[in-house]
Amino acid sequence: MSFELIPQKLVFGGAALGYHQRSPVLVSRALPGEVVEAEQVRQAKGMIHARVTRIIKPAAERIQASCPYFENCGGCQYQHFLAEKQVVWKIAILRETLSRLGGIEWTAEIPAHAAFPWNYRNQAQFKVETLPAGKVRLGFFAPESHQLVDIDSCRILSPGLNKTLAGLRQLLNCDGLAGFHEIEMMTDDRDQHVMLRLCGQAPPAKAQSMDHTILRELPQVQTVALEGINGKTRIMGQPTLVYRVGPFGYQISPGSFFQASRFLLPELAASVTKAATGAKKQDACEAGFLALDLYAGVGLFTLPLAQHFRKVIGVEMHPGSAADLRANAQTHDSSRIEVIHRSVFDFLRRFSRPQPDLVVLDPPRSGVGYPSLKALVRLQPQRIFYVSCHPPTLARDLAFLLQQGYVMASVEMFDFFPQTYHIEAFVQLRRAHL
Ligand SMILES: C[S@@+](CC[C@H](N)C(=O)[O-])C[C@H]1O[C@@H](n2cnc3c(N)ncnc32)[C@H](O)[C@@H]1O
Repeated sequence: MSFELIPQKLVFGGAALGYHQRSPVLVSRALPGEVVEAEQVRQAKGMIHARVTRIIKPAAERIQASCPYFENCGGCQYQHFLAEKQVVWKIAILRETLSRLGGIEWTAEIPAHAAFPWNYRNQAQFKVETLPAGKVRLGFFAPESHQLVDIDSCRILSPGLNKTLAGLRQLLNCDGLAGFHEIEMMTDDRDQHVMLRLCGQAPPAKAQSMDHTILRELPQVQTVALEGINGKTRIMGQPTLVYRVGPFGYQISPGSFFQASRFLLPELAASVTKAATGAKKQDACEAGFLALDLYAGVGLFTLPLAQHFRKVIGVEMHPGSAADLRANAQTHDSSRIEVIHRSVFDFLRRFSRPQPDLVVLDPPRSGVGYPSLKALVRLQPQRIFYVSCHPPTLARDLAFLLQQGYVMASVEMFDFFPQTYHIEAFVQLRRAHL
């Protein structure tokens, strides 16, 4: 069933929202104010999900997507309008999500951090599909599906990753990747050395020969990790990748978390550190006695914070990331850093030292959640920094913290992933009486 629609605004998730016969419609790859013909794809929770079949009257800001895969690939949602406009919309979406899901009316400015909107990804996960004849395809899934879009190169990946992709495609000719279902690639800060993680069930002998072939044929690849279905990882080449951010070198093992936006990640780390030190000089030692870096990863914030707090406790649940965090702490004066390999909830419910000066929260998309937040507010931290990659859970968690006597001091938006709907936010909170 096709119908005419004039979307009213963009909402979180990449789609535009409009109304058809009073029913809300989410339509992807459409822009507010334009007239489109749309077709229902599915209906869920009272919402019609639709796709554009024809643009009757385009919006003034509509542009031709520069990537030939945009129409079919699920990786990007926003190439049909300029990155500067995307930033403006992302700020509006962040504000609206805080209000709609958290009841938070944030009227102050939301400064935006943006950088070059292409070639910014330092990592990617490619899907691998083995066709019955043994031929192998490599690419990303189409929107909301498991249909693979075979791609030669991707405009949001770093040049080094595109080069590695091209090299892997050459190797595909010998169908050596058959049996794997996913290839994860990560490049370092100079876009020179690449770490690969191959996941799947390739026969061991074949997998091993593939490792050797990749290391031999693609000199930029320094690490190949093979992850079988039993969860065991075998690593060939260098065991870790080293990624430099400012004065810090971070060791990253295959499977450990690291921020994926190479142009803005140093700016995020610097913003968090600068906010933590407040008005004090950046090189001054004491911004406070104790800081907790919860969801610490390999220590992106832990290491710089340790230059300004007498003690920093980094809490990380993933074993590989926690081991990297420990190694990174040791390389950079570990005496101030304590690493706890545990879930944030487990840590908080046992931790009894009250009133940390600062708590940094940087959870995955699921957010922090009430059990951990309840345990956190019991400690009465003076300040809480919340770094979020998912506005809906940010709104939910902030609403709780505001009820518990915290006030928001600032909200910043980092456009980590231009051409996509993703929004990274950095929110500073402090205890109300301070
Ligand atoms: C968004 S990443 C942030 C990492 C780090 N702050 C950074 O910027 O590189 C979230 C991290 O939290 C970890 N994590 C997820 N759930 C967790 C939990 N319940 N407790 C502790 N760590 C968790 C993940 O393994 C991941 O390293």
